[in-house]
Amino acid sequence: MDNNNIKAYTPMDRKIIKYIKKHSNRNKSLTINNILKHLNLTQEEEIIKSIERLNNIYTIDIKENKLFLINTPVDRALPLEFDDDLNHFNSLSYYTEEVTSTNGFLKQLAKENKIKHGAILITEHQTDGRGQLNRVWEDKTFMSILMSTFLDLNINIEKVLLLSATVGLALSKTIKGHCSLNPQIKWPNDVYISGKKCAGILVEGSIMQTVLQHAIIGIGIDVNYELDDFPVNIRNLATSLRIETRIINNRMRLLNEFIKYLDKYITLLLDGKHEEIANKVNKILYHRGEVIIYKGDRYLVDSINPKGELVLSKIPGGEKLEISSTGDLEYAYGY
Ligand code: BTN
Repeated sequence: MDNNNIKAYTPMDRKIIKYIKKHSNRNKSLTINNILKHLNLTQEEEIIKSIERLNNIYTIDIKENKLFLINTPVDRALPLEFDDDLNHFNSLSYYTEEVTSTNGFLKQLAKENKIKHGAILITEHQTDGRGQLNRVWEDKTFMSILMSTFLDLNINIEKVLLLSATVGLALSKTIKGHCSLNPQIKWPNDVYISGKKCAGILVEGSIMQTVLQHAIIGIGIDVNYELDDFPVNIRNLATSLRIETRIINNRMRLLNEFIKYLDKYITLLLDGKHEEIANKVNKILYHRGEVIIYKGDRYLVDSINPKGELVLSKIPGGEKLEISSTGDLEYAYGY
């Protein structure tokens, strides 16, 4: 499958569509001049080009210098209407209804040096979605949030676990705010609700000696699945926001909220507020205080530390052990 149908949108496109959506209605016509003034632009040409790009998705008519928003697609997770005042996500955003893997596509752009900090790709379906440990990540079209972002981080490689936890925190805050649920972070990469996984994170990076130069962070959220929509083998392990709330969720609103939280917590991470992030994660750390088996011995799950490692406490004795990989780890009472 080729990925040629992936379209790129600029921050200006995002400003324009938001302005059009706010001001184009039956009672008031919107002119190109209105937009020029509002966005402090001088070139009409820029707006026309933006509208051409936006017309891949929306239907915007221009007649006698007046703009009419004829159609906005429903139930799409478009990376086009999130807030403007973000620190990180001010680069191109890409959208396509189908792609092999959003991580794979951004990886390719990174390899060709064609991508900038904060680029985002969203799709509605992946034909070759990847999970952790090279597992397959399956989806049903229009039911999830499937996205990747490219971040130019230049942080010590030791912080990669904290990076996952930071993304997990943003996901948990989004789900709590949007659905009034109480998600938990299962170290190191997953978000759980009521003991079942509802979102996963896949961090892939380019490492030079001890520095994680850039990361491609892939996120999959099970939003509107019913139980039957999951592959049979994971039905007792997975859940979705719809299953938990009995509501079909607006994926685009959820996405917009998520981008806001992700921006906030990535800023904390890059500002070195590692302890603050770890403290927040510890409040919602799954299995915290429970028994775990590590290399055959019993431990309690204590916390994560500011490096993002999992801190275990030996039973009996309480000596602390910090681990950075899930290998050799078994949860004593189920997954
Ligand atoms: C996991 O829990 O195993 C991680 C799942 C990550 C899935 C997302 S979906 C968007 C992005 N593209 C991929 O191919 N994988 C990630």
